[in-house]
Amino acid sequence: MTHKGPRPTARPAPSRGEPLLVELAVAPGLADVAMEELQELGRRLGKGVVTPDVKDDALALRWPGTIAELHTLRTIVSVSRVWRFDVPRPKALLGDALLRTIGAAVAELVRDAPAPFHALRLSAAGRESDVMQRFAEALARSAGLEVDPERGDLVVRLRRAPSGEWEVLVRTTPRPMSVRAWRTCDRPGGLDGAFAAAAVRLARPRPTDRVFGAMVGSGTLLIERALVAPAERLDGVDIDDRAVACTLQNAAAAGAGEHVHVWRADVTALDIPDAAFDLILVDPPWGDAVGSHRTNPALYEAMLQELGRVAAPGARLVLVTHEVRLTERLLEDHPRWLVAHARRVWHGGHQPLLCVLRRSRRR
Ligand SMILES: C[S@@+](CC[C@H](N)C(=O)[O-])C[C@H]1O[C@@H](n2cnc3c(N)ncnc32)[C@H](O)[C@@H]1O
Repeated sequence: MTHKGPRPTARPAPSRGEPLLVELAVAPGLADVAMEELQELGRRLGKGVVTPDVKDDALALRWPGTIAELHTLRTIVSVSRVWRFDVPRPKALLGDALLRTIGAAVAELVRDAPAPFHALRLSAAGRESDVMQRFAEALARSAGLEVDPERGDLVVRLRRAPSGEWEVLVRTTPRPMSVRAWRTCDRPGGLDGAFAAAAVRLARPRPTDRVFGAMVGSGTLLIERALVAPAERLDGVDIDDRAVACTLQNAAAAGAGEHVHVWRADVTALDIPDAAFDLILVDPPWGDAVGSHRTNPALYEAMLQELGRVAAPGARLVLVTHEVRLTERLLEDHPRWLVAHARRVWHGGHQPLLCVLRRSRRR
């Protein structure tokens, strides 16, 4: 046997200033957007060029800073600390010395977290096995928590790296970061916060933007736009009074209440002058949780027409929908909207179309 006993290859409690091995979870289809935000953060904080290993659903990197800095990223789902151990099998992690070092690192993570954890949940192949249960219980004890396989919010993963080493990953927040603290009210079909932040980034926000949230629902796109950069104005409508109230409540919880103006209106017949907006954000009914596939063709056609009227020439429209074929058909040769960018992104079991349209300069 070539293995010479348990040997951690990344020290579980790095001294101050040593880069932290981390993994940032991202929605498949948005890794490039998250990488761009990460690299901007690195430049802004003077960390030099940050080059993650990009996977479909995660960015892996050594971060030369703090976890709190990574918690400012808006387009990622979660941050996990990663520790690698050159051991042949998980049982070796139960050795006294290793367990003490992993336990101390996890206890430190729990102490420094932005919100309290309630219980530990282990996510690993064979998590019911005796070894896995002893591992989970020992880590939970170090962190002063119980193990709760269903509702635990200190999520610990154990997996084998392609190099053959074993990796322990611990999520650094009790809830995924994409579940926003501002969401005090929800509506059917509400978008994920990180997804909305990424959608907004694709439209390159500018401080001069006159922004219009059409069909706001719970306000996710409009609020994420409000939080990412100043704007000339932030208006929104929904046909449902409950959605209007919900968006206003969430905007207030996000600290953007003063800037966001939302009222009840039908997006297909707006009492708004021509060319009033530079950036429009819309997530129309997908025909499942909200709306119907039967009425969507007429609704989408009228919506694109009316939004084309209130959009200034050159304005951007961010459109998120699962009515993929209908949208592609309507946008083929549309008199007012040109497709600048389109991609499919995973979102809660669906793979909606996310596109940025540009208002043609034709009247
Ligand atoms: C998919 S939901 C939007 C969800 C939103 N993105 C969120 O994160 O909560 C679609 C919204 O369109 C609204 N809606 C449907 N028809 C409308 C119309 N003709 N004019 C304005 N809003 C409409 C619905 O009331 C619903 O709130």
